[in-house]
Amino acid sequence: MNEKAYQHLATAFVLETVAAARNEISARKAGREGSSQAARLFRALTSAQRVHSNKGLMLLRGKISSTDKSIADLMQTLERSVATYESILEEVEGAVRRFVDQLLRTTRIHLGLLRKYKEEEEKIYFVCQICGFIATEKAPENCPVCQAVKKKFLKIA
Ligand SMILES: [Fe+2]
Repeated sequence: MNEKAYQHLATAFVLETVAAARNEISARKAGREGSSQAARLFRALTSAQRVHSNKGLMLLRGKISSTDKSIADLMQTLERSVATYESILEEVEGAVRRFVDQLLRTTRIHLGLLRKYKEEEEKIYFVCQICGFIATEKAPENCPVCQAVKKKFLKIA
């Protein structure tokens, strides 16, 4: 793939990924407002855009590796993310600083889960839908990163 095609593909990937994230939030809002048809449509669009995003990523990265290689690659990516968030944190304030601080704290926790996932038995995960913190075994009463209540955790079994 030439450089221009790669850049166009990267642009499409970002657009679809952002659209999926935005539509997921819009679906929740529509659901809270009682617009069930709009919520379903937003969820359908989210799902479709994730399909696009995943296909784009496969083209950008080539074939998906083995699980062990994917985990090793992800750990390298997250270690770079931690370094990036650490430097960003020194330059921002207010709501952006709180957001980046949560990214940093949760990313470090995610790295910890990845480092020990092979040593542990089967785990159930609970993901805080407010900050992205991942708990194992059971959802905490309050998220240790953002203080969200237990019902804000999504169970991944
Ligand atoms: Fe949280």
